[in-house]
Amino acid sequence: MPLKVALLGFGTVGASVARILNERASADLTLTHVFNRNVSRKRVDWLPGVTWTEDPEQIFASEADIIMELVGGLDPAGAWVRRALSSGKSVVTANKKLIAAQGIELEALARQHGVHLLYGAAVAGGIPVIPGLLSGLAGDRVVRLEGILNGTSNFILSRMEGGAEYADELAEAQRRGYAEADPTEDVDGFDARAKLVILSRLALGVNLSTEAITCQSIRQVGAIDFAYAKDLGCTIRPIARADVRGGGVLALVGPMLVPLSSPLAWSRGTENMVLLTGHYGGDVVFSGHGAGGNPTAVAVVSDLAAISAGAARRTPDAASASVTGEFELRHYVR
Ligand code: HSE
Repeated sequence: MPLKVALLGFGTVGASVARILNERASADLTLTHVFNRNVSRKRVDWLPGVTWTEDPEQIFASEADIIMELVGGLDPAGAWVRRALSSGKSVVTANKKLIAAQGIELEALARQHGVHLLYGAAVAGGIPVIPGLLSGLAGDRVVRLEGILNGTSNFILSRMEGGAEYADELAEAQRRGYAEADPTEDVDGFDARAKLVILSRLALGVNLSTEAITCQSIRQVGAIDFAYAKDLGCTIRPIARADVRGGGVLALVGPMLVPLSSPLAWSRGTENMVLLTGHYGGDVVFSGHGAGGNPTAVAVVSDLAAISAGAARRTPDAASASVTGEFELRHYVR
């Protein structure tokens, strides 16, 4: 019997998920319901046999085994995920804000109801860094993580490397639809910080308070900084990093000096990259498309496939840890 899946949110990612499920015509997953506000504007004729609804209650009352939450934000997404888990349905979400803020509590709820909560799409879009941590690296002890977790700020800084001005590149990022009219979440580091909290839990086994992590904006970076960086054999990239130091965790988000020999310096445009250092296995690098409809949808469908195959892994327990780390541009990253 194929698993029935229902979708909350038919935006860019939701539509890509529906298209992939439709084209896969998979024997193990069937999309049965789609929720969105204003269905008449959203309904598409390439998705036959699906019930469209503007009432989320219809999704919770449906026979769906798995609910995909792709509406984003904390409210009402948090209440809907709780509702789904409490009804005995597994949840797959791309919601980094929700998982960073309430992931521990939501995973406990999933466990209590014997269902799964997977969020492989919440960090670095289509790059399988979360499944990689939960399966391929489960045998190591990761001691450090460094990453470019925000494509918009990487687009801006990597183009400034060639002499461009911040304001021009921000405008270009907005023109291309990468940055919002209000670019705060991306350029001031808040988007990357939520992703860092999630990765720290999975990679380092530590629960960090989001607000305790210092964020520095890339707005203050100028052409002169790139000139100094070059003299040091470095460039500047938007880095999120965390490593275990003594009793605490050094965790920071902001523009940092990166040696030109580092893979992080090679990442350009909207590319995301995560560099993990294992105590036993050494460095592992993940890179690829960190956002966008199709790459993010691939991560969502992969989570569905893992549940369907009985291969979904639970997040290992993590301990609370205090955050240390004042921001300095000269923070070197390998
Ligand atoms: N706005 C994000 C970025 C993508 O630029 O990477 C969604 O997390």
